[in-house]
Amino acid sequence: MFDAPSRACGVDFGTSNSTVGHLRPGAETLLTLEGGRQTLPSAVFFNADEGSTHFGRDAMAQYLEGYEGRLVRALKSLLGSSLIDAMTEVAGRSLAFRELLTTFIGELKRRAETAAGRPFDCAVFGRPVFFVDGKPEADKQAENTLAEIARAVGFRELSFQFEPIGAAFHYERSLQREELVLIADIGGGTADFSLVRLSPERAQRSERRDDLLANGGVHIGGTDFDRALNLACAMPLLGLGSRTLNGAILPSQLYYQLATWHTIPLAYSRAAWTDFQQIYRMSAERDKLDRLSRLIDQRAGHWLALQVEEAKIALSGAATTRLDLGELWAGLGTEIGHADFAAATDELVTRVAQTVSELLVQACVPADAVDTIFFTGGGSGVPQLRAQIAALLPEARACEGDLFGSIGAGLAVEAARRYG
Ligand SMILES: Nc1ncnc2c1ncn2[C@@H]1O[C@H](COP(=O)(O)OP(=O)(O)OP(=O)(O)O)[C@@H](O)[C@H]1O
Ligand SMILES: [Mg+2]
Repeated sequence: MFDAPSRACGVDFGTSNSTVGHLRPGAETLLTLEGGRQTLPSAVFFNADEGSTHFGRDAMAQYLEGYEGRLVRALKSLLGSSLIDAMTEVAGRSLAFRELLTTFIGELKRRAETAAGRPFDCAVFGRPVFFVDGKPEADKQAENTLAEIARAVGFRELSFQFEPIGAAFHYERSLQREELVLIADIGGGTADFSLVRLSPERAQRSERRDDLLANGGVHIGGTDFDRALNLACAMPLLGLGSRTLNGAILPSQLYYQLATWHTIPLAYSRAAWTDFQQIYRMSAERDKLDRLSRLIDQRAGHWLALQVEEAKIALSGAATTRLDLGELWAGLGTEIGHADFAAATDELVTRVAQTVSELLVQACVPADAVDTIFFTGGGSGVPQLRAQIAALLPEARACEGDLFGSIGAGLAVEAARRYG
């Protein structure tokens, strides 16, 4: 099996990072997509000064260097939402978010083909267990939209596999004996779980349905942790939770828009500016609202979200960190302790853990029968999340794979199995 290069690739289009895997004997499975790196951050920057379009790290760098233009990130979060056909203003033009997604996925395909030295018209795309929680029709619509986009950029044959199953097939290639494994894939947008029976012998089978005991997922990922931390620690400095002249709490919609990666561009629209003026007039703490005005004026919502994301990542390894906002507002910043982070994300962590408990019930598997938890996805670096999941499976050994590459590599295995 798999003794010639596969004709198909595996595409892990992620909320934060994307990878493409291609199974070839004697070569690395993950293709290099940007400057020798195997991940392409799922970001697009339209440079209005130069009329150019940039992707990945290059897109982030252009935005941070202060070029005039528009950054979009977390585009995957738009799949299954009504915003997918909404328009956003990009470098003086009106573009539907759907077209932005098409631009990004087309680029992902081109880069993969350049790295592999061959065209791909066949692919297995990963998908979260649920694009949309509790709404099967919207979930199906999200998959259909992704399939339409994939066809539009030239994939003639394509199919889907759950992202955690992709990770399972990657992990299975390292196994010497059978294990019952919980795959925990906590990405930027979703937390996805699969309970699977894996072994070197089972890996040879073409039909794996009996080995896949249960799947579960929830629309919570690293970007939700960013938002929660942003709303708890940064936005209050800009007036969230402050008082109006009547002593009421200021409306919060604009703050939520600015703290959510995929809706940040909407906060720069004319309608949002009208909202801002309204809350400014109501506010009893205009010094804070002046900071908010500066953030919007400088189109710095992504910059702030990035500072918060960095603080979150720092808090995964340290007890405290400083959120330094001096670059935009001289002298402004705040210390964040791990306890603040845990308090801000407690509800999210509980909901993710609940998803795992429900999955075990659904699979009719006692918690102590699980041999291994395989953590993947950048969000699995959050210690309180990992601890709560591990506590549900007392006998399981926790291990982790390539946090950003396991899924793309596993989808490549699936692509070779399905398409040869
Ligand atoms: N050390 C870390 N600790 C905590 N979070 C981290 C760490 N490193 C990265 N992250 C977070 O991981 C997330 C990205 O993970 P990943 O690339 O696996 O997501 P994705 O595959 O793009 O998303 P999804 O699978 O949900 O569509 C981001 O929210 C990032 O902030
Ligand atoms: Mg992922």
